[in-house]
Amino acid sequence: MRTYWVETYGCQMNKAESEALIRDLEEAGWGRASAPEEADVVVLNTCTVRQTAEERIAGRLGYYRYLKKHGRFILVLMGCMAERMKEEVLEAFPHVDVVVGTFQKNSFVRLLRERAEDLTLLQQLLLTEEDEYSFEKLHHSGLGFKAFVPIMHGCNNFCSYCIVPYVRGREISRRPSEIFEEIEALLEKGVREITLLGQNVNSYRFTWEGKEMRFAGLLREIVHRFPELPWLRFLTSHPKDLSEELIEVMSASSSICKHLHLPVQHGSNRILGAMNRRYTREHYLNLVERIRTAMPGIALTTDILVGFPGETEEDLELTLDLMRRVRFADAYTYYYNPRKGTRAYEWGDPIPLEVKKERLGRVIRLQRELSLEWKQRKIGRMVDVLVEEVSRKREDEVLARTEQDEMVVFPAPPERIGRFAHVQLVSLEGNTFRAKEVIRCLGDSSSR
Ligand code: SAM
Ligand code: SF4
Ligand code: F3S
Repeated sequence: MRTYWVETYGCQMNKAESEALIRDLEEAGWGRASAPEEADVVVLNTCTVRQTAEERIAGRLGYYRYLKKHGRFILVLMGCMAERMKEEVLEAFPHVDVVVGTFQKNSFVRLLRERAEDLTLLQQLLLTEEDEYSFEKLHHSGLGFKAFVPIMHGCNNFCSYCIVPYVRGREISRRPSEIFEEIEALLEKGVREITLLGQNVNSYRFTWEGKEMRFAGLLREIVHRFPELPWLRFLTSHPKDLSEELIEVMSASSSICKHLHLPVQHGSNRILGAMNRRYTREHYLNLVERIRTAMPGIALTTDILVGFPGETEEDLELTLDLMRRVRFADAYTYYYNPRKGTRAYEWGDPIPLEVKKERLGRVIRLQRELSLEWKQRKIGRMVDVLVEEVSRKREDEVLARTEQDEMVVFPAPPERIGRFAHVQLVSLEGNTFRAKEVIRCLGDSSSR
C-alpha cells in the first residue's frame, strides 16, 4: 500500500485543503505513514503570509533534505508559498520533487493516481497546468467531530500589506447545493461543530438562474435545513462587508456561535487608509456597538498589525485606545513583514525591528489584560462546552471549548470526547477555565 505524510502550515483554509487531500488519497487506497521517512509521498502544505512563516517552512525543508538521504519519499511543496515561488522552489530547494500551487491541487491528486506505479518519475516537477480553483466535495478526513467547510475562496480586497490575493486569486463563491451536501454528509458522520471558511467569508455571493444568495441568506438557510447541527461558526469576516442582516440572522439563531472574529488591523484612520482596509475606526466602533446591542454576550476577537510603514506613536496610541474601547476577548497580533509584490512593499520597511517589537509588546500586554478581564467576568457562569480531548496534564480530566472558543478543563472520562456538557466555570488557570459539571435544570433552554 502507498503511504503519505502531510504537514500543514498557515490558516484554516490550508487545514481544510489538507484534509481534503488526505481524503482523496485514502479513497485511492493510500494509507497514513507512521513517520515521514516511512512515507512514499511527503506533502508540506505551506503558508506565505509572513516571512516568519516561510522561514519555518524553509527550516523544515532543511530537515527533509537530511531525511531524504535515508528515505525514498517524493517531497512535495504545496500551497501558498509554492504558488508565490513557483520555479524558484526548484532552484532554492533542489531536493523538492514536485511543486503544487494553489490552483493545481486537483491535478496533483490526479497525477498521484496515474503515477502510483512509479513515483520516482516525479522529479523536479512544477505543476503549471492552470486549473481554475474548484472546491472539493468533502474536506473532512472522517476523524473528529469538528469540521471546516470552505464556502468561498480568494480575495478581492488587496489590503496593501497582504500577499493572499496574489497567491489565492480572485474571490469565488461555492454553489449553495454543494455546501448543503457537504454539511449533510458531515452530520451523518456525527460532526457536531462546523466552521464555514473563506478569506472574506461574509462577502459570499452566489448567483444562479437569476437568483442570488448572500452570506446572511446562506446562514439562514443552513440553520433552517439542519436544525440538528449544534454549533455553526464562520471565519474570517471583513468589517466593511458585515451587514445588518447578518447581525439579525446571528442573533436570531441559537446554533450560530456567539463569537465573531473581526480583524480590525489598526486603530488609526491614517494607517487604515494606507492599508486599504476601506473602513474607519468610527465605522468599526459603531459596528461593534450594533453587534453588542443585538448580542450582548458575544465574544469579539481580532487581528492587529503594528509597525506598518508610516505608523507613529500617536497611531499606535489610537490602536491601544480602540482595543480598550472594544475590549476584545482575544487578538492575534503581528508586526509588519514586507511582502514582495504587494503595494506596501514599495514603501520599504522604515520602522526599525526593535521599535516594531516594542510596539507589538505593548499591544500584547494590553490584550493579556483585556483577555483576563473578559474571562474573570465569566467565573461562576453555567455554560455548554464541547469536549475535545483528554487533558494533557491529567488523564482523569478533559479539555473542552465554550461557544466563545475558550478552553475549559473538568473531570470526565475520555468517552465524553465529541459530546456536549453543561459546566460551571469555577476558576482560571492561565488561559484555561477550570470547571465542574452540573446537571441541567428543567427549563434550561439549551438542549444539547
Ligand atoms: N482575511 C483576513 C482579514 O481580512 O483580516 C485575514 C487573513 S490573513 C491570512 C491573517 C492576518 O495576517 C491578517 O489579519 C493580518 O493581520 C496578518 N498579515 C497579513 N499580511 C501581513 C504582513 N505582511 N505582515 C504581518 N502580518 C500580516
Ligand atoms: Fe489579506 Fe485583506 Fe484579503 Fe484579508 S481582506 S486576505 S488581509 S487582502
Ligand atoms: Fe497563509 Fe495562504 Fe492561509 S498565505 S494564511 S495559508 S491563505
